[in-house]
Amino acid sequence: MTAEHTVLDPRTMRNVMGNFCTGVTVITALDGDAPLGFACQSFTSVSLDPPLVSFCPARTSTTWPRIREIGTLAINVLAESQRTLCAAFAVSGGNKFRGVDWVPGDNGAPALDGALARVEATVETEHDAGDHTIVVARVTGLTALPSNGPLLFYRGTYGHFDRL
Ligand SMILES: Cc1cc2nc3c(=O)[nH]c(=O)nc-3n(C[C@H](O)[C@H](O)[C@H](O)COP(=O)(O)O)c2cc1C
Repeated sequence: MTAEHTVLDPRTMRNVMGNFCTGVTVITALDGDAPLGFACQSFTSVSLDPPLVSFCPARTSTTWPRIREIGTLAINVLAESQRTLCAAFAVSGGNKFRGVDWVPGDNGAPALDGALARVEATVETEHDAGDHTIVVARVTGLTALPSNGPLLFYRGTYGHFDRL
């Protein structure tokens, strides 16, 4: 496809970008006694020294402003067995934590049972980026957990990883 034939509408952008397979995370924080969280695939490692990660919340997210206010969060990297859990964290409103096993992690943010890994962090900076924002967070804790393979997201559906 040449540049002049590329149609830059949101649906095409979503469809083409969907070819970039990612893992999925649930980003959590604790607001008093209330656990907060939302599903997020835009997570990436940014810098080793200092240790920084980033992710991109949508401006429409109702959970992100509450997590930003707390400033202390956990990025739970989902395992392939957590597809149903992921779907529950991808909807706005309701009690997303119903039936979910979790404990407060070292920084208080919910650590979800069964996750592949957990990155604890504090919000460092946030940058405007169209209908999303780019959050840069400083890593304060790292945990890899025994589990099965990763939950993947590709072309709008979930999958799992098979070694070649
Ligand atoms: C696989 C997957 C990946 C997602 N990645 C993101 C993301 O990177 N950023 C984002 O803001 N929303 C993402 N979402 C959508 C949010 O999870 C959803 O809009 C959010 O949970 C809405 O709830 P809230 O209003 O409580 O924030 C993703 C959803 C799914 C299913």
